[in-house]
Amino acid sequence: MFLEGKTALITGAGSGFGQKMAIAFAAKGANLVLNDINESGLEETRNLVLKQSNTQILLIKADVSNSEEVNEMAKKTFETFDNVFLLVNNAGIDGGLYTALKAKEEVYDKVFAINVKGPLNVTKAFFRRMKRQKQFQPISGKIINIASVAGTPNGANPMLGIYSASKAALIAFTRLFALELGPSNITVNAISPGVFLTPIYNNDPKLIRQFLETRNVKIPIDRIGEAEWVADLALFLASPTADYITGQNLIVDGGMSISINKL
Ligand SMILES: NC(=O)c1ccc[n+]([C@@H]2O[C@H](COP(=O)([O-])OP(=O)(O)OC[C@H]3O[C@@H](n4cnc5c(N)ncnc54)[C@H](O)[C@@H]3O)[C@@H](O)[C@H]2O)c1
Repeated sequence: MFLEGKTALITGAGSGFGQKMAIAFAAKGANLVLNDINESGLEETRNLVLKQSNTQILLIKADVSNSEEVNEMAKKTFETFDNVFLLVNNAGIDGGLYTALKAKEEVYDKVFAINVKGPLNVTKAFFRRMKRQKQFQPISGKIINIASVAGTPNGANPMLGIYSASKAALIAFTRLFALELGPSNITVNAISPGVFLTPIYNNDPKLIRQFLETRNVKIPIDRIGEAEWVADLALFLASPTADYITGQNLIVDGGMSISINKL
C-alpha cells in the first residue's frame, strides 16, 4: 500500500488510461482527485473505483487548457487534501487525421492547448506545494506525463502530424521539468504508449488494425495494448522502486517503434 496517505491527481480521468490509473492507484491506497471536462465520465470512474477500494475521491470538472480553471482546481484540491504526491498529466486529444501542413490553424491551437499547455498549466499550479511535501522523503512528489510513441523520433506519425509534434513537445517538457524539479526531490517521467484499445480509437480493434495496415506497421509483440498495462507502468513509476528514475520517456508499445521498416 505504498500510496497510503498520498493523493493522486489524474487529468482526463473520465475515460481510457485515466480511468484505469484511478483504479490502480486507489488499490495501492491513494486518495484521488479526478479531473476531466466530461462529468459523466468522472462519475463512472468514481463508481468503478469505489467498487474495489474505499478511498476518498474528489471530482473536478476543469479544462486543462484554461489556466484559471486549473488554478481553481488546485485551490479545491488543497481545501480537501493536504498533498498531491502524484500528478498525472493524462488528458489529451488527437485532433483528427491530418498531415502537419494540411492541418487547420484551429486544430494546431486546440491540440497544443490541451496536450502541451494543459500539462504546463497543471504542473505550474501544483509544483510549489509538491516541493514542500517533506513528509514523503526521500521523494516529495512525482509527475507522470502521458505522451505517445507518435512523439518519439521513430514513431512520428505523418497522419497525426500536429498530435505527433505536441507529444514530442510534452516529452521535451518532461526533461525540462525533471531538471527544474529534481533538486526539490520531484521525479518527472513520461509514458509513451503505442496503440491501445481506448475510446480515442472508439474501443475498436478493427480500426486499429486498419490503421496499422495502411501504414504498414508491424508490432513485434503482435497485440493491441490494453489500458491496464499503461496503468501498471504508471504504478511502477509511482512506487519507491522508481524513485531514482527521472527525466525518462518509457515506451510501452510491444516494440512497434523499434520495428518501423524492419519487419
Ligand atoms: N489510446 C492510445 O492508443 C494512446 C496512445 C498513445 C497516447 N495516448 C494518450 O493517452 C492519453 C489518454 O488517452 P486515452 O486513450 O485514454 O483517451 P480518452 O479519449 O479515452 O481519454 C482522454 C480523456 O481526456 C479528457 N479531456 C479531453 N480534453 C480535456 C481537457 N481540455 N481538460 C480535461 N480533460 C480533457 C477526455 O474527456 C477524456 O476523458 C492522451 O493524452 C492520449 O494522447 C493514447
